[in-house]
Amino acid sequence: MYRVDLKDGADLAGFRRALRGLVALDVEPDEVNWSGGNAPSLFGDAALLPVDAPPVPLPRPVGALIESVVCHRDPERYALLHRLVRRVVRGERGILDHHADPLVHRLALLDKAVRRDLHKMHAFLRFHEVRDPASSEGPGAERYVAWFEPDHFIVEATAPFFVERFESLVWSILTPVGSLHWDRRSLTVGPAALRPEGLDRDDRFAEGWQRYYESTFNPARVNPTAMRAEMPRKYWANLPEAAAIPAMIRSAPARVQAMIEAEAAAPRRRNPDKAVAAMARQEPATLAELNRIIRGADPLVPGATQAVLGEGPEGAAIAIVGEQPGDQEDVEGRPFVGPAGQLLSRALEEAGIERSAAYLTNAVKHFKFVARGKRRLHQSPTAGEVKHYRWWLMKELSFVRPRLVVTLGATAALALTGRSVSVLRERGPMGFGQTGLGDWDGFVTVHPSYLLRLPAGEAAEQAYRDFVADLRRAREMVEGAG
Ligand code: URA
Repeated sequence: MYRVDLKDGADLAGFRRALRGLVALDVEPDEVNWSGGNAPSLFGDAALLPVDAPPVPLPRPVGALIESVVCHRDPERYALLHRLVRRVVRGERGILDHHADPLVHRLALLDKAVRRDLHKMHAFLRFHEVRDPASSEGPGAERYVAWFEPDHFIVEATAPFFVERFESLVWSILTPVGSLHWDRRSLTVGPAALRPEGLDRDDRFAEGWQRYYESTFNPARVNPTAMRAEMPRKYWANLPEAAAIPAMIRSAPARVQAMIEAEAAAPRRRNPDKAVAAMARQEPATLAELNRIIRGADPLVPGATQAVLGEGPEGAAIAIVGEQPGDQEDVEGRPFVGPAGQLLSRALEEAGIERSAAYLTNAVKHFKFVARGKRRLHQSPTAGEVKHYRWWLMKELSFVRPRLVVTLGATAALALTGRSVSVLRERGPMGFGQTGLGDWDGFVTVHPSYLLRLPAGEAAEQAYRDFVADLRRAREMVEGAG
């Protein structure tokens, strides 16, 4: 009989080590006591396993399943995984395809429960701002603390997600099964914690979340049953925005009616500045940090594949701002790679601007579309949506520090000026600094997709030549200024 002592919680490294020994010695699953923690062995004459056995090569999906299932609370998890691995090393390499196999089925359920728990922790954990009297950064330094009660031992597994998302904050995540502490440089994994008293008192971060939630809440979509399924009541206690839910549900019918009445008169208004500013209180210190925040944010428009970030060198003399990523950009995750982007590349070359030396970005970072069968048809962002993304654009440009910002089309011009610009009438140099939104010398020109929409002919060719002339002029302005 063999005894394996693993740490409490999810001891992936310990399990892997034990597995090597068990496989090397060809031990039957029934011969192993996975005691774990300090539990006494049920077997007096337990033998310890060799520690230096070679790694066990496993198919990737089996490795991924192990990583997930070790996080489950089920005390039988290690024994079940050992059974699985033994069958794999004995030749059943495609075992996970046999969904009806009782062992595979049971492990799949454990895996699903862990994934769901991870999703809940990613989505429903909320930081609260506290002043830390003992901070190494000085008494009263800002620190964020979150309390969460996961169902399984997932705390360490969530660490990469939170480090990436909140890299620029000092934070602690406390749970009854372990804690994580991040000081902007290194992560420490700590013991289980008790819920701190008064966490949600005097809390600007929580307030920001609540405002954001309220501003994005659509009363017309209220479905309390679905809301509870997606956001079980258990998590409400830790969610600042949950305080607003009952009132928002109660007032939903009246708000829907008001929306219907207001719709005819004016487009729906959100409060994008407040919402994004609240979300962005992390104050990213670098472009990379900002990009991490953008990448982690939900698209304003559901269905987009990913945020498409700006591309090009920081310190580029010219920044070129488009409207939003198109279908191809959304899939590839890079700006201006589709048909309009190709036309832009050609025009830049003819104007003497090296594309790779310019900084290319968009006013809106997610693709907005309507699905028509398999096709995704571009939809222009509303003024509110442009405003929602503007904080990021301004921050982005402040990191890039271009000498000239060239806007392509009306949406980009709206983002930089805060007003509706008639591109064909106002094209040319424009001081964006006078708008109070940012302080850049600007240049307004048409969007390349406008050129693509013109019917082929002399007018289209002239429009293209005018576009190249605009870009050339922009280059000369920069060279003159330089
Ligand atoms: N159009 C844009 O405005 N931006 C892109 O990235 C691609 C097409």
